Amino acid sequence: MASFVYILFFFLLISDISAQDGDVNIECPFPEGQDVSSPEKCAQYTACEWTDVQCHLRGNSEAGYAVEGAPVPTERGYKLNLKKIDQSVTMFDNDIRELVFEVINHEDYHVQIKIYDANEARYEVPVPLNLPEEAGTSPKYVVNTTQDGEPFSFSVSRDSAPEDPLFSTVGALIFEDQFLQFTSSLQTEYLYGIGENIRNTFKHSFQSRETKPLFARDQPVGDTEVNNYGVHPYYVNVNHKTGTAHSVLFFNTNAMEYSTYVLSDGSPALTFRSIGGIIDLHFFLGPSLEDVNIQYTNMIGLPAFPLYWTLGFQLSRYGYTSVEDVREVRERMRAMAVPQDGQTIDIDYMLRFRDFTYDTDVWAGLPEFAEELHNDNIKLTIILDPALVIDFENYSPGQRGKDADVFVKWMSEDLVPADQEPGCESYVVGYVWPDTKTMFPDFFKPETKAWWANELAIFHETVNYDAIWIDMNEPSNFGTNLARPWNWPPERPDWSLKCPYNKWDSPPYPTKMVRVGGCESQRISEKTICMSSNHTNGKETFLHYDVHSLYGWSETVATYEGLDGVFPGKRHAVLSRSTYPGSGHYVTHWLGDNTAEWSHLRNSIVGMLEFNLFGVPMVGADVCGFLNDATMELCARWMQAGAFYPFDRNHNGIGQSPQDPAFWPEVAAISRDVLALRYKYLPYLYTLFHDAHHHGHSVVRPLFSEHMTDIDALVVDDQFMWGTGIMIAPVLIEGATKRSVYFPEGEWYDLETGQLVANGPTTLQIEAPLEVIPVFSRGGAILPCQEPALTTAESRQNPFCLTVALDSGLRASGELFWDDGESVHTVEHEGTFSATFEYANDTLKMAVFDSKTVVSGLALETISFFGFPSNPSGVVVNDEALSPSSWKYEEDMVLIVHLSVPLGEDLLVKFSL
Ligand code: GLC
Repeated sequence: MASFVYILFFFLLISDISAQDGDVNIECPFPEGQDVSSPEKCAQYTACEWTDVQCHLRGNSEAGYAVEGAPVPTERGYKLNLKKIDQSVTMFDNDIRELVFEVINHEDYHVQIKIYDANEARYEVPVPLNLPEEAGTSPKYVVNTTQDGEPFSFSVSRDSAPEDPLFSTVGALIFEDQFLQFTSSLQTEYLYGIGENIRNTFKHSFQSRETKPLFARDQPVGDTEVNNYGVHPYYVNVNHKTGTAHSVLFFNTNAMEYSTYVLSDGSPALTFRSIGGIIDLHFFLGPSLEDVNIQYTNMIGLPAFPLYWTLGFQLSRYGYTSVEDVREVRERMRAMAVPQDGQTIDIDYMLRFRDFTYDTDVWAGLPEFAEELHNDNIKLTIILDPALVIDFENYSPGQRGKDADVFVKWMSEDLVPADQEPGCESYVVGYVWPDTKTMFPDFFKPETKAWWANELAIFHETVNYDAIWIDMNEPSNFGTNLARPWNWPPERPDWSLKCPYNKWDSPPYPTKMVRVGGCESQRISEKTICMSSNHTNGKETFLHYDVHSLYGWSETVATYEGLDGVFPGKRHAVLSRSTYPGSGHYVTHWLGDNTAEWSHLRNSIVGMLEFNLFGVPMVGADVCGFLNDATMELCARWMQAGAFYPFDRNHNGIGQSPQDPAFWPEVAAISRDVLALRYKYLPYLYTLFHDAHHHGHSVVRPLFSEHMTDIDALVVDDQFMWGTGIMIAPVLIEGATKRSVYFPEGEWYDLETGQLVANGPTTLQIEAPLEVIPVFSRGGAILPCQEPALTTAESRQNPFCLTVALDSGLRASGELFWDDGESVHTVEHEGTFSATFEYANDTLKMAVFDSKTVVSGLALETISFFGFPSNPSGVVVNDEALSPSSWKYEEDMVLIVHLSVPLGEDLLVKFSL
């Protein structure tokens, strides 16, 4: 059977395609940027030619590769040899003469395509992927290539529509030692994802060309052309005509950039350029958006299941001055009755910004304060930065690190600077927050992981922290290549980490990153360590040039696994600034150093939607803004929007005026209300996270998730969904007291009043005075809820409720997942509870699964129906008639039923109408 399938598959694969030879809109890249473009500059690249006013890539038949011979079948697909057509035609030289194009059939909806050097192994991304043991037997895709002797190009289509490719290369493939470039035309302009960049719209734009760099960088939120903290070369493309989505991962970690623009025939195009590695693409065919999310996260690692308390509100700032200072803010939160589950302390708590220390003078009483918080059911998060100070004699974490040889080294001894710090051997030495120079742990190394785990455990003995925040892990280094870091002690002579001039630190095409974001050094090592550093996992050695953007990912794995020793049997809360595909399996991400500006509130929604595509659903921005002072109004609106970030943390920068919600009475009152609403629906949010963790679903979704043929929904990015049941439309404009809200098809109810607001698709003006955030439930959803409290420890003990929002057929369904909120999740689902809810034919059914002990003592006490047709004449709960005083039918077709049944038992509620 298997061989028959392969033969069939093989024939599908080699069918011919008619390929476009080239397109004048495929730009040739200049290291200095397109501004320098001129016929003379263009003539420097034999792969390029000048036509009219632009320097573009020559056609495929001149600048590309040709197919050589016939495909050779492999166990999971086939290989095809490619040969450079003319070796003298080049962009930056060192073209790889012979390539292999390999198709690897993984699952019916997942195909991998690799293009690599036929003769020499090149760097490939060491992040482990979950690939199936057996290949699928009926692929839903067709991969086509050109044939023997022809200029090489390829396409990937759905088998149901081979004439309408999802991905189809245009023009020449460039594969040089330090420069790769390929272009595909796209099915539609509905392109989402690729990051981490700041984007003002979720959908990419094509009409004016946009080129954005990708390379992990300590770069605050702001300029939209800049590379930010993490790297996710992954996009989703929606076909609005067929209502289908597919996605593509470019599995590469080298510095890269991508451009969106239109080809001369008007079709949308995407170009990727990378300066190393290989071309390794994974295609996921969906066809629904959630199918795509599930397929992708199952390969890169299913999202972490958050500890329940981390879904509560968290408060943080940079610039707390002492335990007393934090206590005061805590007191004010308590006095104003604002819910809070987490308190974060920033680098201020450390002694001279040294990891695994605390300042026993200024922060005296920190260990006791941790217990004080715990007594109030508040958890403590502490920050750690990767860079460790060099002071072996006085700083034992550094000495133990040296003993275990855990730090990143120069790739060769001759690069060690003449003024190397004593005792640092060949370690790369830089400077970050502390007042002495630092070394950078190489988290790829098993020894580093063991040492880091040990330090996490030792410090936990001193300060009983609950969660770890890993920051600055791009990795950030201040002042690289400059005269001195900005915070270098003024009395000391100039010094900074200086990177050598060699092929790694001065690559021929350093990508757009050196031209944007105020890149002072104009070098690829801007604000980080040198590319000519080495990492090792004990088996292989990696150049920093290749694995730079994996630094955050590797620290994440080390931290998450390290916490196993501190909290055995428990899940962990790790918050990371830098991420790569697969990070979501371990961490929460916040969107970095934003500013207290309305535009940053708005683009946080785009960032949150993107990270849900990237498999990092536990995400949020610094609520009320990190830099600059927030106004009362902005902070109120941000507390409202943030109440619907999966990760809801108010964080402030040093020197900024306070912005904790209790600081202003108005914001305190607004926060109390909106957080009560959040806490009420945490059982629903938690259930969504369970689905994310078990199946790979996203949590926050764009409106078009269930409406991909709705072209109005496809461009909405100032509203978002929690799963399929709740839609949030925060006010994002200063002074606004109403906003226009788009309602996709279906019934939409005000989540708080139950009033039917819209029958979509439609756009309505919705009143939203300062104390109101428009939030709606979708007709057809049953949302589990719980009476809110000031902490989740308390709310988790409270009575449960259900919100049943009926669709036009008077039906609805939903589910609830529950456990102790902290134990590691076993495949056997031990100690977990789940229930499904179904309302149809005037009957509500709750079916209970799995363990009931975890919900013993918990009761379901209220069921609210939205859109209920009339006041029922009778209500029977599990065969017992309910007294008529137990329900109330209100105007606006809202029915509230009070009952008291154990959550752990099946339930049947019948209504007589
Ligand atoms: C970085 C972080 C920020 C933190 C600061 C001090 O800028 O992004 O959140 O407060 O460092 O640790």
